[in-house]
Amino acid sequence: MEKICLNSIIFSAAARILFLLAFLGVLPDSMKNQTFETTEININTHKLQNPVRLAVLSDLHMHEYGKDNADLVSAVRELDPDLITVIGDMMNKSENEYGIVITLCRQLTEIAPVYFVYGNHEYDMIIKEKSKIGDDLKEIGVNVLDSEWHTIEVNGDLIDIGGLSRSPRYYNWTDTLMMQSYLQSKNFRLLLVHDPGFFDPRYTTNPDKTLIGKPIDVALCGHRHGGQVDIPYIGGFYMPDVGFFPDLTAGDNLVGKTHVIVSRGLGDHNILPRINNPYEILSVTIQ
Ligand SMILES: [Fe+2]
Repeated sequence: MEKICLNSIIFSAAARILFLLAFLGVLPDSMKNQTFETTEININTHKLQNPVRLAVLSDLHMHEYGKDNADLVSAVRELDPDLITVIGDMMNKSENEYGIVITLCRQLTEIAPVYFVYGNHEYDMIIKEKSKIGDDLKEIGVNVLDSEWHTIEVNGDLIDIGGLSRSPRYYNWTDTLMMQSYLQSKNFRLLLVHDPGFFDPRYTTNPDKTLIGKPIDVALCGHRHGGQVDIPYIGGFYMPDVGFFPDLTAGDNLVGKTHVIVSRGLGDHNILPRINNPYEILSVTIQ
């Protein structure tokens, strides 16, 4: 109870500071949710024979960049990716509405195979409102990784691609069984998992849940929205479910031997503005 109280006081204080900055007019355009950047990340694992390029989209929160997200689709097309990965929180838990997500994903399937994992917002709506987003995504040809993994071939290499549906808070036996099986797999392991809390000792050290030290080659995450304000040389400023100065808010982070790649996301669902923290898609090349 005390922790919840402290968190809400911190959240409220952070919101006031950021609104003061907004009032003073020091907010850059990137905070107004009108543009996004493409961030390139290169991973040298020497485990693949040929380079694999991934386009990574996360945390859209029902935003649109151009009509039907035409700007987003054209940026992804320009990357010419081998796979498109969507890391969750594309809809909002406030309402069971996801037409924007379906329209976007339908266009993405015309570019490359699309793999989608739920974020906490989709998962909340599936549990509470029996949202059919998963069925509708599958209907248009999206590969929904609902705590499951598959072996796929990309540019002559075999990749074991997995997706964890739930955040550490809701992690259950389905996820445990999936991860036990996944970690026995034989090929390059690429895990889609919305919440990087699984790799964060500040968030969970529960041995049944943590993925720290597990043999995962690359994990793709979102959720932390870049820590709202990116302070040069320090990093993210605040994340509601972690607190001040959270780790794993953006970029490529080596945790054990796992490259934990975190997207700043493409939209927001809270009232906090963003500073020095552009919306982004990631272009990740693994070789
Ligand atoms: Fe999000």
